[in-house]
Amino acid sequence: MSDAIEFNHLTKTFGDHTVLNALDFKIHEGKITTILGFSGAGKSTLLKHILGIHHPTSGQVKVLGQDLKNLDEGQMREFRTNFGMVFQYSALFDSMTNFDNVAFPMREFTKKSKSQIKEDVLSLMEQVGLDEHAWYKLPSEISGGMRKRVGLARGLALQPKVMLYDEPTTGLDPITTHMVDDLIRRTHAAGASLPMTSVIISHDIAATLRISDYIAFLELGQVVEHSSVEDFKKSTNPTIRKFLELST
Ligand SMILES: Nc1ncnc2c1ncn2[C@@H]1O[C@H](COP(=O)(O)OP(=O)(O)O)[C@@H](O)[C@H]1O
Ligand SMILES: [Mg+2]
Repeated sequence: MSDAIEFNHLTKTFGDHTVLNALDFKIHEGKITTILGFSGAGKSTLLKHILGIHHPTSGQVKVLGQDLKNLDEGQMREFRTNFGMVFQYSALFDSMTNFDNVAFPMREFTKKSKSQIKEDVLSLMEQVGLDEHAWYKLPSEISGGMRKRVGLARGLALQPKVMLYDEPTTGLDPITTHMVDDLIRRTHAAGASLPMTSVIISHDIAATLRISDYIAFLELGQVVEHSSVEDFKKSTNPTIRKFLELST
């Protein structure tokens, strides 16, 4: 099995606070991997290393075979077109219509014609099940669940090889959570550029067990468990056991 992302002995400190501590971890290509851990464990920090927003204090981050330290800022900006990012609370541009939100990365990063962009945006909005009446509204005029769909469509706009989700269902009601989980799975399966690798950051164990192929558990700056969902359920790590018990 090949790996889409590799962390080799990654250490990250902020001042005298070591958040990631000689972490070794490889994310399998073409799979859905969820990184679990308590609040403050360093999940978002890890994700920001994939995006080249944070740089290692020491150690290496390799994404799609590329050692990120060899990219300058311009190259990193270009390299980020390999990623689709879906944030907590969707993080849409409030003053743009939903259509324009999805079109934004295409206008910014591609040379597509106006009519090609329109065609592609409409096709993405259909793919994520966004109702037609929502297409030309502002994000504030539609429900939270619909905003998630817009965020997902925007994340898919550049046909990414890697989709990254930071707490995609935090703050959503249970029904919307199920909808988003379902959408993440379907998006993964229908990835425009196969094999698509999906990385989800979460502290929601129930959702994680539903949608992941692999689960990694982050604790004290290291990945202390990385296994298939079935094996993860059988983990003997005491913190993971506690985590699992909280969900049932
Ligand atoms: N830019 C930063 N400067 C200083 N400390 C930070 C910064 N980003 C994150 N941290 C600290 O790193 C730790 C992990 O944060 P984070 O990665 O956001 O955790 P999680 O996403 O698992 O909740 C926290 O203690 C946080 O305060
Ligand atoms: Mg976080």
